[in-house]
Amino acid sequence: MKILAIESSCDETAAAVTEERQVLSSIVSTQIAEHRIYGGVVPEIASRRHTEAISAVCSDALKAAGLTYSDIDAVAVTFAPGLIGALLVGVNFAKGLALSLNKPLIPVHHLRSHIAANYITNPELKPPFLCLLVSGGNTVIAEVTDYTKFKILGGTRDDAAGECFDKTARALGLPYPGGVTLDKIATKADLKKYPLPHPKVSSGEFDFSFSGLKTAVMNLVNNSAQKGEEIEVPVVCATVRQRVCDMLIEKTLFAAEKYGYKTLAVAGGVSANSELRLRFTDECKRRGITLYYPELKYCGDNAAMVGVQAFYEFKDGNLGDSSLNAAATLPIDYR
Ligand code: KG4
Repeated sequence: MKILAIESSCDETAAAVTEERQVLSSIVSTQIAEHRIYGGVVPEIASRRHTEAISAVCSDALKAAGLTYSDIDAVAVTFAPGLIGALLVGVNFAKGLALSLNKPLIPVHHLRSHIAANYITNPELKPPFLCLLVSGGNTVIAEVTDYTKFKILGGTRDDAAGECFDKTARALGLPYPGGVTLDKIATKADLKKYPLPHPKVSSGEFDFSFSGLKTAVMNLVNNSAQKGEEIEVPVVCATVRQRVCDMLIEKTLFAAEKYGYKTLAVAGGVSANSELRLRFTDECKRRGITLYYPELKYCGDNAAMVGVQAFYEFKDGNLGDSSLNAAATLPIDYR
């Protein structure tokens, strides 16, 4: 079954052609350079750029797969969660396409597709497993009990992990998307030099909180500026990265132990973080846990992961029609 998948939830317009877990083509047109001058994604600009790019990106994906629209068996699209105006561009385009081709329309939840990015690279990975989902807008520990069945064990009480990286990086004067730069310039250094907190949540075993760490970095930057002291930015970056990774790894392993999981996966943009990948791999090895990651090119937003998840949604009968709407927020276990 060949699926043309479309993704437009944030600042990447993407289309891909997939067949079960196989990626026949994957095209990503990123808007990062344009949003960088504003220090973050401007939703209105994102929607406009999606509108301009979506038709060509879909044609490019078909061309790269050596196919035409008539070869497609279904159209899949990210419908939630994300920036509402951006999502609507993809949803409306996909609805029109499915209607004109007379093919099924498959709505895909963005976070489910991030998890499915793991299926592309790891053919042996099958539910049940435990997943840490870390992106720019979400941080969740979820049980993947089946391809379309999820149980949330915990999540962030405030900022997402990626948001914490992006906002601290911005306070340090680094360009958007800050998480990527922060990871690149972080140096192995004296991690006690800047006493940044290890944020804790008083209740909720598997919940996270990142806003305290973000505020601490902002206070550090402001206080240092007032005193005329220079900050060692790479050291602060390394300290922030370590604090975030400590929290993510500790809670996920605790959840794995409590619920008896020996298979873990990490998904979402932050799964590209170098320290997270290294330390998580080591910790899992020591505990006899098998750990999966998506390939780096599938960690961030792309449509290949949408197509792969769409295959399982289709098998489960989760189809959309012309009444499909986008939603800015929607939990991963919505059905
Ligand atoms: O999954 P994604 O592409 O978009 C969302 O669905 O949110 O995730 C984007 C997030 C951004 O916050 C970005 O800074 C972060 O992933 N990110 C990283 C790294 N690469 C991307 N954060 C830390 N280290 C990285 N290497």
